[in-house]
Amino acid sequence: MKRPLGYDVDENATRFSNYFHILRELVHLTSGWLPLEPSWPRKYELGDHVHDDARALTKIKRRLYELRHPSDYPGSPSPELAELLDRMAVADSPGAYLEVAYGEAKPALARAMRIHLERLDPVADEPSLRLLSQVVGRQERHVRELAAATRGADGDLGTLPVRLRAEPRELRILPPLVEPARDDFMEVTEGGDPYLTRELYINGAENHVPIEREEQRHFFHGLMDAELSAAELMARNSHEHPEMPWDFHVDMARQVWDEGRHAKVHDLLMREELGCRWGDYPVGFSYFKSIYDYDLLGRLCLFNGTSEQRAMWRHSHRRKTLMELGQERIALVFDYLLADEVPHVHNGVRWGSYLLGGSEQAYREKVRQLRGGLDETGAPAYSSSS
Ligand SMILES: [Fe+2]
Ligand SMILES: [Fe+2]
Repeated sequence: MKRPLGYDVDENATRFSNYFHILRELVHLTSGWLPLEPSWPRKYELGDHVHDDARALTKIKRRLYELRHPSDYPGSPSPELAELLDRMAVADSPGAYLEVAYGEAKPALARAMRIHLERLDPVADEPSLRLLSQVVGRQERHVRELAAATRGADGDLGTLPVRLRAEPRELRILPPLVEPARDDFMEVTEGGDPYLTRELYINGAENHVPIEREEQRHFFHGLMDAELSAAELMARNSHEHPEMPWDFHVDMARQVWDEGRHAKVHDLLMREELGCRWGDYPVGFSYFKSIYDYDLLGRLCLFNGTSEQRAMWRHSHRRKTLMELGQERIALVFDYLLADEVPHVHNGVRWGSYLLGGSEQAYREKVRQLRGGLDETGAPAYSSSS
């Protein structure tokens, strides 16, 4: 069989530019809506997908650079593509957003990538072949996992023209969050679960490791909620700051997925080991709100630079105590939480320093200053944490 003729370099770059525009908007808007999606399973999928999409976009930017196209902002989308992006941007609920993003945009993206794969020259353009083979399967998986009513995609958005000298397309930022959404069956109260005492969240000799089943049930339930709040905070950091460098959004997307995965670990642990489930106890948002009220620098200093940094000590302490008691399965959970916390703390250093003109010292100083107003559990006022 003869090789397909393939696309010329400009056509190829145009196709990747169109994918760029769709994925950029998907990462931005999914990050905005994730906290407002009430369903825990759907929230998890969104976190997983936003991380896939951010990495896919990084690879596409790289390919555009190789094809000698401006990779930071490859022109402006055609009116036809802009119309789809606009519909995605004006959605007024998570459900309405999912319908356009997963019912139209992702299927159209996957379809264009399939057409691209069929027609490209597999030797001359092998870099595109490798990239697209990997990315298209993920896009199709996303649609399967979260399909609203998928309208069968037709046409080929890869061929849409890109307006190279036009102004960058502006990203719509959703109104500030009042609070994140939880499943309907959840009880949300001012103080969260009253069972959770401050000794659980303190560093040092006074720290209490939950070792009895009943306290572990409450503890992991509260921890699952804290993981979701962490994912939601990082998602909003990304969404509310489109002016930040692309790598910031990739780091945030990775953390969103990590925190979602931590929540999933706790969800499974509760069901398989502890005999309780998500929704058995109340949750509260006072800690989330106290951090969300800060600007980006303050959130990075207080959440990544303080809360997560201090949680590392507790996770290690909990792991050691539970190992000694022979509760290996539960101890291992803390081993992974601890490992993932390292890059999360680093996200604070990296982007906090960036916001302070590249000075890590200025960041450390800012962290010290903001920590002044915290109690010994790391909260501005006591609230359940991790
Ligand atoms: Fe976590
Ligand atoms: Fe974390």
